[in-house]
Amino acid sequence: MKKAIKKEQKAKDKLMKHNITLIPGDGIGPEIISETVRIIESTGVDIEWETFIIGAQALEKFGTTIPEPTIESIRKNRVALKGPLTTPVGKGFTSVNVGLRKALDLYANIRPVRALPNVPCRYPELDLIIVRENTEDLYAGLEHVVVPGVVESIKIITEKASTRIAKYAFEYARSHGRKKVTAIHKANIMKLSDGLFLECFYNVAKDFPELEADDKIVDNACMQLVMRPEQFDVMVLENLYGDIVSDLCAGLIGGLGLAPGSNIGEQGAVFEAVHGSAPDIAGQGIANPTAILMSGIMMLHHIGESEAAIKIENALNEVYTEGNIRTKDLGGTAKSADFANAIIDKIKA
Ligand code: NAI
Repeated sequence: MKKAIKKEQKAKDKLMKHNITLIPGDGIGPEIISETVRIIESTGVDIEWETFIIGAQALEKFGTTIPEPTIESIRKNRVALKGPLTTPVGKGFTSVNVGLRKALDLYANIRPVRALPNVPCRYPELDLIIVRENTEDLYAGLEHVVVPGVVESIKIITEKASTRIAKYAFEYARSHGRKKVTAIHKANIMKLSDGLFLECFYNVAKDFPELEADDKIVDNACMQLVMRPEQFDVMVLENLYGDIVSDLCAGLIGGLGLAPGSNIGEQGAVFEAVHGSAPDIAGQGIANPTAILMSGIMMLHHIGESEAAIKIENALNEVYTEGNIRTKDLGGTAKSADFANAIIDKIKA
């Protein structure tokens, strides 16, 4: 009998253990990822991290920016937590983020835009969701020199990817009790490409009659977001507009240090902040770990560890509500580690 109980417990423990691929990234990445791992582990959740380097570091060490073992690890574990990666501007290797999303077909980039308590920002009540198509558009990076002085950059929009992302957005809205999905486009100018995106959106909308579906031209959408963002609920955008509008939205709720995200596909999910490697503050231990920590909270929900996720979320909200420990981006003097310690103290209290 005792043996059987032990065996059952062992099986349970095995079920509770998670293998997760960890990519610390560049710049501030390793600083904020290590604090996030400390916080996650303080909840007692059982995770075995498999750490990999990609990008410039991998190029130097292995001669390739995305080594196959990294992809294999994510495929096997189906979950990764990733720090930001530096992409050289105007030269050098192509974006590793884009490469990773393509290699794993992580087609849906989900970016919640929600203010934290007691954080000074333009819209403390804001609560919207950005759903960004992650695999095509001008982001495909298909560029060539036609003749010296003339370059062509190709925008790819397909019915398959546009329909898939629209479905994701509507299904997300339905399962999360949202009321409205808005497609953002520039179909007045790019009548074929953005026109197709919009057509697919309204075709999918027919299967979700309980949800309101509308659309806005991207330039107007940006102005509306700054003036009256509460009119948006779930927004679905092509890759490039989604990238730009995400940073705009981060600005509405207190900055890039506070905006989390996830990249979801059939083969797995990679959780990462909206922000980049912040070379201007890297190595000083002053970056705000909140965005990557919130991505970690999304990850914990995703793997069924909602109890741990809620513990961290409550601690994070408490630390912000009290307002004593703030990193420099929010006007404070706390180091990344002080901030993480404050959260861990709350979790353990
Ligand atoms: P960035 O997001 O790295 O930084 C923009 C500004 O926000 C900087 O002033 C930075 O100090 C601040 N900031 C960003 N995250 C912060 C945090 N956690 N705490 C406090 N302040 C923070 O954007 P930037 O400078 O345009 O890009 C730097 C590099 O990051 C580039 O190589 C870019 O390609 C890459 N990048 C990578 C991304 C990813 O890995 N998912 C996303 C965006 C950019």
